[in-house]
Amino acid sequence: MAQKISILGIAGSLRKASFNKSVLRAAQKLVPADASIEDFDLDGIPGFNQDDEKNPPPRVAELKAKAKAADAILFVTPEYNYSIPGVLKNAIDWASRPYGDSAWAGKPVAVMGASVGVIGTARAQYHLRQTFVFLDMDPVNQPEVMINAPKSLDAQGNLTDDTAKDLISKLLQKLVEKARAREK
Ligand code: FNR
Repeated sequence: MAQKISILGIAGSLRKASFNKSVLRAAQKLVPADASIEDFDLDGIPGFNQDDEKNPPPRVAELKAKAKAADAILFVTPEYNYSIPGVLKNAIDWASRPYGDSAWAGKPVAVMGASVGVIGTARAQYHLRQTFVFLDMDPVNQPEVMINAPKSLDAQGNLTDDTAKDLISKLLQKLVEKARAREK
């Protein structure tokens, strides 16, 4: 069997009971058998300072190394004030620097998210997709996975919505196909 596709999964929330961390855990169970998702917690990533971009703090260096080593990236993000949470954008900025040494360039990427709003992070996801253009990432366009957390997660944070599970499975399948295509 071919080597497993390694996906780095990053939730855009630091909250312990985060809906998006819960959805990332669900994705780890729904990923195709020939792939796996390692979770990277953004806790401990300091605010970006360009003075330090050539010698980043250890937690940033770890993120960058893991992103570079991964075959594909999965972002699972909340929406804050109609956009990308600062902690996620900050982490993306760190790992994109210094210029010419981005961890994201050319990487297959998928995005999904959960919010308490009915349009389930749509605006944040489109802002995130806009960053993929400059980052030169290779996004899966469809399906779009926008989860209304109160409807789709139970009180323990388990994903109970079969439609959402099906969409996540399809999204991950396409992400793995993209990563496999790069091996050829
Ligand atoms: C929010 N929330 C929110 N929800 C939404 O659908 N659209 C929005 O623009 C915002 N804006 C927003 C700003 C800030 C600063 C906070 C803290 C929250 C609510 C958000 O969906 C909810 O807090 C989720 O629970 C956040 O995701 P996690 O932490 O559960 O993963």
